[in-house]
Amino acid sequence: MNQSNHPIKLVVLEDPLATAKYVADLFCDAMTENTSCVLGLATGGTPVETYRELSERNRKETCDFSSVITFNLDEYIGLEPRHPQSFRRFMQDHLFDHVNINLINTHVPDGMADDVNEECARYENRIRDAGGIDLQLLGIGHNGHIAFNEPGSPADSRTRKVALTDETIEKNARFFDSVADVPREAITMGIGTIMEAKRIVLMATGEGKREAIRKMINGPRTPDSPASLLQDHANVTVVVDRAAAGELAK
Ligand code: PGA
Repeated sequence: MNQSNHPIKLVVLEDPLATAKYVADLFCDAMTENTSCVLGLATGGTPVETYRELSERNRKETCDFSSVITFNLDEYIGLEPRHPQSFRRFMQDHLFDHVNINLINTHVPDGMADDVNEECARYENRIRDAGGIDLQLLGIGHNGHIAFNEPGSPADSRTRKVALTDETIEKNARFFDSVADVPREAITMGIGTIMEAKRIVLMATGEGKREAIRKMINGPRTPDSPASLLQDHANVTVVVDRAAAGELAK
């Protein structure tokens, strides 16, 4: 395991499974330290193994979700919660249905809300009322997006309706029957919302994420590469496998 001296703590591990176990450890530690902690959760291919690991630990009773509160980063606009590709459904399938969490304490933006702006404001209020996010999990897009904050997203952006870029639509098409079925809009926590989390853990695996990770850590801080804005946060850990680390592992 290598750790750089960069202000963002970089943890390089051998393979994706090792990254999943490491991140699951961080989450279990947070839940042990504070049984009613507030967790920020992410969807996508990257955290699936972490959620499987957490489910397994919950089954073995080594971590307890009973009083935990969760907030997901984002949700597609126009997909019912039960839609196979909604992020609510993803969370049910990969985590919530397998652990002793109280579903009332799980929050995913409502992509079917009649008034999207009101839903965004309500989501921000719920996070604030819960006392803020203690530990936020993030993935990263090839273009450096975090959640659905695509390049150009302002550093002080809040939870809001956004249009997905063509690149993100194409990348996410693998989960749908065709690219035409991918929603064009989403509700996402903003960069400013994410930056208020007390601690952030970003995970990435595979060579395809190497350039995004390099820019996040060594590139200029710029909304053109939204993840680079995390350089301004005091407590960020980036957990990657060797393939995603590339030269940074040396
Ligand atoms: P992925 O997505 O985990 O499916 O690669 C990450 C992201 O786009 O944030």
